[in-house]
Amino acid sequence: MRILLTKTQIADKVQELGAQISEDYQDKNPILIGLLKGSVVFLADLMRTLTIPHTIDFIRASSYGAGMTSSGQVRVTSMDVDVENRHVLLIEDIIDSGVTLQYIKEVFLEKKPASLCVCALLDKPASRRTSEKVDYCGFTIPDVFVVGYGLDWNEQYRHLPYVAVVEEQKNGP
Ligand code: PRP
Repeated sequence: MRILLTKTQIADKVQELGAQISEDYQDKNPILIGLLKGSVVFLADLMRTLTIPHTIDFIRASSYGAGMTSSGQVRVTSMDVDVENRHVLLIEDIIDSGVTLQYIKEVFLEKKPASLCVCALLDKPASRRTSEKVDYCGFTIPDVFVVGYGLDWNEQYRHLPYVAVVEEQKNGP
C-alpha cells in the first residue's frame, strides 16, 4: 500500500470543510446523514469541527459486492430518517461511479427536504457513470482503489488514520 493522503492532510481538509459548512448553514440546523459504513470516520471528525447546531443520522446503502468490483446495484437496507423541511447534508467517504449518490438523492428528494447537498471526503470523477456533483469535496483523486479513514477492502482497513492506494488488485493489499 502507498499512502495517498496523510492523517494531517485529512485533518486540515476536514477542518476547512467544517468551517465552510458552519458558515453556509448558520441558523439552518442541518441534518448530517452518513451513508454507512464508509462515512463513519469522516462524519465523526467532521461534526466535531462544526460550530453550529446540527443533528446526525445514518442510512445503510451498499453498491459494492466483495472485493473491488462495483456491482452497480444499490441496496438500501435502512432509511428511517425524517428529513421533511430539513437542510440535509449527505456525508460520503467517496463518490466513485455516482450510482449510490444518484439513487439516494432521488429517494431523499421525495421526502421534501428544505435543501439537499453532498459532502464527500473523496471524489473520483474519472470513474463517474452519472452526472452527480459534490457540493463539498475534500480531495479529488485519480481512478485508484483506496482504503483507510473509513474505506475498506473486504471490510478490512477502515481503521487506518490515512488514505492509502491498494496497488496489488488481485490479492488485496
Ligand atoms: C462505497 C462508498 C459509497 C459508494 C460509492 O460504499 O461509501 O457509498 O461505495 O460508490 P459509487 O459512487 O460507485 O456508487 P460501499 O457500497 O462500498 O459500502 P461501505 O460504505 O459499507 O463500505
